[in-house]
Amino acid sequence: MAISDNTVAVIGTGNIGSTLAANFAAGGQDFLLAGRDQDAAREVASGLDGHAEVVGVDEAVERADVLVLAVWLDAFRQLIAQYGEQLAGKVIVDPTNPVGPDDAGGYRKVIGEQESSGQILAGLLPAGARLVKAFGTLSAGSLSAAARQEPERAVLFYAADDDAAGDLVAGLIRASGYDPVRVGGLDQSIRLEMFGDLHEYGALGQVVTKTEALKAI
Ligand SMILES: NC(=O)c1ccc[n+]([C@@H]2O[C@H](COP(=O)([O-])OP(=O)(O)OC[C@H]3O[C@@H](n4cnc5c(N)ncnc54)[C@H](OP(=O)(O)O)[C@@H]3O)[C@@H](O)[C@H]2O)c1
Repeated sequence: MAISDNTVAVIGTGNIGSTLAANFAAGGQDFLLAGRDQDAAREVASGLDGHAEVVGVDEAVERADVLVLAVWLDAFRQLIAQYGEQLAGKVIVDPTNPVGPDDAGGYRKVIGEQESSGQILAGLLPAGARLVKAFGTLSAGSLSAAARQEPERAVLFYAADDDAAGDLVAGLIRASGYDPVRVGGLDQSIRLEMFGDLHEYGALGQVVTKTEALKAI
């Protein structure tokens, strides 16, 4: 069964990619799953009731209308450089937090204080590719634990410049077991990234429901 009629691909089978894959499958959303390591992708897909079709990254890029790149910022940049014009016409979903380890066992931002990876990556895409910032506001553990929360669903914030692309990703957020709340355009991405006020590890400090989310934005 496909919740979204668009072909959706998740690229990356690490913490976020595998958690998103599980959440999509639990919501009945079919998708392509691709990683550099096909065995790892097959392992993730094996428990997902046939909702994930394992393909190579080239095939995922070719076939998908919506690409969730569940990779770190540098790898995201590399994928944009590698696939370039092939991304035109597609919706590119960006869950990145532009951080790396600090010297104290925590995280530090790896781009300028006032910069967001959402805006940087959007600026690297070819014309006609539309980026949506989503799926990065919760830790992988919370993203798994709070999916399909009862009695009130938890929220995933997203930001988009393009309404149609935003609506499409809102549908995927629903399929993954969350209530979507749009924060605005991509100039709001920084609020959704780690240290931003709407990130679980930022000022918000927790997973929220829609009632709480609407007070926060
Ligand atoms: N972990 C979290 O709690 C969390 C929360 C919110 C947002 N995020 C964001 O989500 C993104 C992924 O984080 P993660 O924790 O899932 O990282 P991760 O566990 O290290 O997984 C990264 C994945 O990216 C894949 N990858 C790297 N380069 C690739 C390429 N060129 N083509 C295809 N796949 C490639 C890796 O494949 P290999 O195994 O082959 O290297 C791996 O499957 C990051 O931007 C992070 O900021 C993470």
